[in-house]
Amino acid sequence: TQSQQPKLRQPIVVVLGHVDHGKTSLLDKIRSTAVAAKEAGGITQHIGASIVPADVIEKLAEPLRKLIPIKLSIPGLLFIDTPGHELFSNLRKRGGSVADFAILVVDVTKGFQNQTYESLDLLRSRKVPFLVAANKIDRIPGWTSYPDEPFIISYERQSEEAKRNLEEVIYGKIVLSLSEQGFSADLFTRIKDFTKTVAVVPVSAKTGEGIPDLLAVLAGLTQQYLKKRLQYAEGPAKGSILEVKEIPGLGTVVDAIIYDGVIKEGDTIVLNGKNGPIITTVRSLLMPAPLSDMRAKGVKFVSVPEVQAAAGVRIAASGLDDALAGSSLYVATSPDEAKEIAEKLRGE
Ligand code: GTP
Ligand code: NA
Ligand code: MG
Repeated sequence: TQSQQPKLRQPIVVVLGHVDHGKTSLLDKIRSTAVAAKEAGGITQHIGASIVPADVIEKLAEPLRKLIPIKLSIPGLLFIDTPGHELFSNLRKRGGSVADFAILVVDVTKGFQNQTYESLDLLRSRKVPFLVAANKIDRIPGWTSYPDEPFIISYERQSEEAKRNLEEVIYGKIVLSLSEQGFSADLFTRIKDFTKTVAVVPVSAKTGEGIPDLLAVLAGLTQQYLKKRLQYAEGPAKGSILEVKEIPGLGTVVDAIIYDGVIKEGDTIVLNGKNGPIITTVRSLLMPAPLSDMRAKGVKFVSVPEVQAAAGVRIAASGLDDALAGSSLYVATSPDEAKEIAEKLRGE
């Protein structure tokens, strides 16, 4: 029965790709689509991340159920955006280090560019499984847009010429570049074995076409192939520091992705600093207020007593002034354990 299945956490999906290929637009579109699909609570905002819950994915993927089974055992998907500019390779690396899965966004009008290759190298070296979102299909010559429709439905309605033009960019640019890099890839509708072939999912972050397919493929692949990795343990949290920030009134805080366990107010945490490991106590855990409250004036934060993986959270504590972005973060359950973890971190 359902209750005997191990509980799974949300897969952490990191969005990578060259500057201006549409990473942020794609996440914005996923968020607005999710909100529209479920008036309230369609998504939850996290620090540096957002979660689309399983019921929303199931609802959006409903028209695709013949192609992709949509009974989900994961509670949703947690998405992390990264910047594409060449200067931000450190942020891409941090994203890559917490990723269970990645979306490599490629603008179909441009094909692979420098940071597309850099992102691919990162995914290869960390062995992160990924799919390619072939973005901006609304700009394919002759393409007629069907806003928010699944790609497979929109594709059937296209003229022969538009279909040919799409195939030309998918195979002539994206599949070719991937094959030059040693990856076999194909349009997701034609793949038989997803463990051997990288899925290419055509999308438009502008019109929303292909978003249902993208979510369904992501959810299907992660819950099928990453089940073991996604098993949720009720223990002390493990995470990774994405950013260290100075916040007026709070002092220095860290923004972290929690990928395992639970973190609570008052917990002892251990992380790396510029001058060696830091052991400190969580003063407060901050999450963005629900979406409806964060218009115009920017993000407001609420303090929460505890946070479960997978999540993005801002942690306020004393002694974080020289905390190191990119460091691992652990909750320790005793002073001895804190010292042990600190020793391990010293070598990181
Ligand atoms: P960086 O964060 O700077 O690396 O860029 P990004 O990958 O997040 O790209 P962003 O979402 O900022 O989009 C770049 C530009 O492409 C913007 O002007 C978007 O409006 C446009 N754009 C993104 N997706 C689409 C799309 O599907 N179709 C069209 N026509 N334009 C798009
Ligand atoms: Na941009
Ligand atoms: Mg962006």
